[in-house]
Amino acid sequence: MIEAGIIGTGSYLPDVVVTNQDMSGIVETSDEWITSRTGISERRLSSGEPTWFMGLVAARKAIAAAGVEPIDIDLILATTVTPDYYFPSLSCIIQAEIGADNAIAFDVNAACSGFVFAMDVAGRYLMTGAAKNVLIVSAECLSKLTDYTDRATCVLFGDGAGAVVVSTGGGRILGSHLRSEGKSGGSLVSRALPIQHPFLDGTGRNPGGWGSAFPERFPDAVDKFIRMDGTEVYKFAVRAVTDSIQVVAKEAGVEVARIDHFVLHQANFRILEAVSRRLGVPMDRFAVHIGEMGNASSASIPICLDNMIQDGRLKPGDSVMMSGFGAGLTYGAMLVTF
Ligand code: UT7
Repeated sequence: MIEAGIIGTGSYLPDVVVTNQDMSGIVETSDEWITSRTGISERRLSSGEPTWFMGLVAARKAIAAAGVEPIDIDLILATTVTPDYYFPSLSCIIQAEIGADNAIAFDVNAACSGFVFAMDVAGRYLMTGAAKNVLIVSAECLSKLTDYTDRATCVLFGDGAGAVVVSTGGGRILGSHLRSEGKSGGSLVSRALPIQHPFLDGTGRNPGGWGSAFPERFPDAVDKFIRMDGTEVYKFAVRAVTDSIQVVAKEAGVEVARIDHFVLHQANFRILEAVSRRLGVPMDRFAVHIGEMGNASSASIPICLDNMIQDGRLKPGDSVMMSGFGAGLTYGAMLVTF
C-alpha cells in the first residue's frame, strides 16, 4: 500500500463531434453496426488543436482542482502515442507551459495502458519520497494515425486528454499489477519514420527497401496508420483485464465484489460487458463513456475519472479499480481509494 492518491483531475475534449451518421458518409458502415459492435455513438476529433494543447488544458484543470502550485510539482509524466514532436517530450512541453520548473519530466509509452503504467511509476516515486506531487497528463490525437478509408478502425478512435495530480496528501494506492506481452505486438501497430539518409545509396533510399537486408518486424505496419487485428486484441483485452483485476484485488486483500467503481480503458462497450460478466460485478459499477468519445487511448481512463468527479459519482473514500490494455501488447490494473 502507498500512502498517496489522486487529489485533482481535469480533462479536455475537442469540440468537433463526429457521429456514426457522419462516418457512414465516408466509409461503408452504419450506426447500427458501430453501436451494436462497439457501443460508440460519436467521437470527438481535434479541430486543429495539437496534442500538447489538449494535455495542457487538462493539466491546468487538474492542478487547479488539486490546489497545488505548479512550482510544487516534483514529477510530470505524460503518456501519448500521438505526440506533436519526437522531442522534446510532451511532459517537457507541459512543464514549460505551466511553469513547473522544479519537476522532472519524461514520457511513458505503454500505448492505451499508458495512464495505468504512469500511475504505477508515480506511486513508486511517491513511496520512496522522491516526489510529493506528481502530475500525470494523458493526451491523444488518434485522428493523426487513423486511416479514414479503413472502416474497421476509423469508426473506433477519438481525440482528447485527461490529467491527474497524485500526492502524498491524497488517498491510497492499494495495489497494482502491470504486464507486457511483446511477442503479440504485431496485432496492433503503427509505423514511425523510415530510415532515409544520404549514405544509403545515390537516391537517399535503401535500394532493397524494407526487408531486403533486415526482416520486416511488423509486416502489417506499412505506414503510420493504425493496423489492428481486432478479434485478437478483443480476446486479449477480456482475458488480460479480468486477470489483472483479480490479481490486484487478491494481493490487496480486497474482494472484487466490494470495489465501488471499475474504470477501464474505453475501447469497446462489449469488452466492458464481458469483463463485468467474468468478474460477476454489475455493469452499473463500470464507467461507460465510450459512447460519446470513442477510444481515446491512454486518455480514456483519466477522462472517465474527471467526468465521475464532476457529476458526483466518485466521492472521497470510494475505491476505484482502473485497468488499461493496448498496443505492446501491454496491460495492467491498479486499485486506489479517493
Ligand atoms: O485501444 C486499443 C485496443 N483496441 C481494442 O480493444 C479493439 C478490440 N477489438 C474490437 O473492439 C472489435 O474486434 C472490433 C470493434 C474492432 C470489430 O468487431 P468484431 O465484432 O470483432 O467484428 P469483425 O472484425 O469480426 O468484423 C465483422 C464484420 C466483417 O465482415 P465479414 O468479414 O463478416 O463480411 C467486417 O468486414 O464486420 C465488418 N466490418 C464492418 N462493417 C460495417 C468491420 N468494420 C465495419 C464497419 N462497418 N465499421
